[in-house]
Amino acid sequence: MEFHVLTLFPEMIQNTVNTSITGRAVKSGKIRLHTVNIRDFSDNKHMRVDDYPYGGGAGMVMQAEPVWRAYESVRVKTMAAQKGKRPRCIYLTPQGKVFNQTMVEELALEEELIFLCGHYEGIDERVLEETVTDYVSIGDYVLTGGELAASVMIDAISRFVPGVLSNEESAQFESMQDHLLEYPHYTRPEVWHGKEVPQVLLTGAHAKVEMWRREQSIKRTKERRPDLLEKNRPVTVAYFSPTDGTRKAAEALAGFLTQSPVMLDLTRRKNRKQEIIFKEKELLLAAAPVYGGQLPKVREELFSNLRGNGTPCIVMAAYGNRHYDDTLAQMKEILRARGFVCIGAIAPVIPHIFSEKLGAGRPDGKDLEIMKRFAVEIKKRIERAGEDGFREISLPGNSKPGEKELKPVKKLFYKERCTNCQACVQKCPVNAISIGTLEIDESVCINCMRCSRVCRQNARAFDASQTAVYLESNYLKPREVEFF
Ligand code: ADE
Repeated sequence: MEFHVLTLFPEMIQNTVNTSITGRAVKSGKIRLHTVNIRDFSDNKHMRVDDYPYGGGAGMVMQAEPVWRAYESVRVKTMAAQKGKRPRCIYLTPQGKVFNQTMVEELALEEELIFLCGHYEGIDERVLEETVTDYVSIGDYVLTGGELAASVMIDAISRFVPGVLSNEESAQFESMQDHLLEYPHYTRPEVWHGKEVPQVLLTGAHAKVEMWRREQSIKRTKERRPDLLEKNRPVTVAYFSPTDGTRKAAEALAGFLTQSPVMLDLTRRKNRKQEIIFKEKELLLAAAPVYGGQLPKVREELFSNLRGNGTPCIVMAAYGNRHYDDTLAQMKEILRARGFVCIGAIAPVIPHIFSEKLGAGRPDGKDLEIMKRFAVEIKKRIERAGEDGFREISLPGNSKPGEKELKPVKKLFYKERCTNCQACVQKCPVNAISIGTLEIDESVCINCMRCSRVCRQNARAFDASQTAVYLESNYLKPREVEFF
């Protein structure tokens, strides 16, 4: 990440950023800091950069020309300029949008940022119009200049730049992401001024410690920042994933949205039987694989046991590098009819069940970057909804696709290896395997191949070689994750 700061006081920025964790990041090259002294671009021998305001009044105004020249000296060197684009330039001002964690995450996705720091009464409006892309305030109070505000932003953004924090310091999963405050921390000694460390922290019971910390986070936020708690939105991931590809992709996305998602496994028949009701103040991530361009056909339509109350949802159609076709539109329609508002959709590539080549190793690093971008976009949409409600997105594809006959895959059953453990029977998501004969009912089977995945004895397998040849000769070129 490259930070450029246009300022009259470069040492103020250099001193703060080159200290502590950001200082370490500068040294290791994870972030780069360039300060530009606007005074060096003055056009008079006294090196003045300010003048009296037109119309009179108190204070001085920074002139347009030195600011413009300083900006241009940086702009021409930016990667954005090389791509023919305007670089992101942030003007620090109490008149800007108030800086928050979503903005931190969004700005951390950029490869370079320019900060423009004003002094005196401000900067000539005309040069702001030609340079600034974002007006940002760090809070509702007035500072003497933009330098401290720029330092605050650089610090917060740097924490989200990969590699700036060590694993222990890692920022991504901390609680501010969920609009919750951190739980209280303790270290040795065990008793200090007669005060003991809470007992649960001494037990080493990881799950209990986690639960206690979460409770403390909520309690603290309630007491100290009830306004933040209002914004907290629990995330449930409802997924259908016979061979784990969809689950992994959904988990990855959920990790960018929240610290503590609730996982609801709809591959299990039991979890599709009970109705689950969501409040408006929640977020649902519904994830399913693509079978022949649409949702897998289970007896009661997938997701039909979920009920929303104007609850926002994201739909995810995970596919094996062929295409998601109608699946996203179909999911949106099912959930809309069940009281959800679809505010986002994503189609990640996952390994294809019938080919070892299609989607191998996906989601990969680049996919995760795209998912992170999507998660930030979702957070922005949720924040915006506070003002004028959730907006349903439009999606490509037929929301009510016709029945599609999928060619059954040839299944293999090595009876001699089978120990009759019944794992395949129990775990078949559509109950297609007979308890007694262990035969597969082809009229019910969805060819998900979970039976072969769960069989420890390798008694079940399948032969999809014909399908693999077809897929590999037509769909090998890796597709990019798309989101809406
Ligand atoms: N410049 C002066 N006050 C400011 C503030 N609150 N935020 C950002 N920049 C400023």
